[in-house]
Amino acid sequence: MNRKKVICPCYHVTKGDIADAIESGADSYKQVKKMTRAGKGCGKCKKKVKKLTKNCLQNNKR
Ligand code: FES
Repeated sequence: MNRKKVICPCYHVTKGDIADAIESGADSYKQVKKMTRAGKGCGKCKKKVKKLTKNCLQNNKR
C-alpha cells in the first residue's frame, strides 16, 4: 500500500493516516472521519475514505 497517497486533499489525509486510525481502533467511517478529519471538508473524498476503511477493516480481520 502506498501510505503516502493523499485520499483527502482538504485536510491532507493520506492512506497511511487512515490505516493508522483503524490500527488504533477506528472501526467505521464515522470514527475514521473523527480521527483523521478526512471527509470533514468538501466531502468529495467520502466514497474513497469509506472504501479504504472497509478494505482496511477486512484486512485486519484476516
Ligand atoms: S477531499 Fe476530503 S473533505 Fe474534501
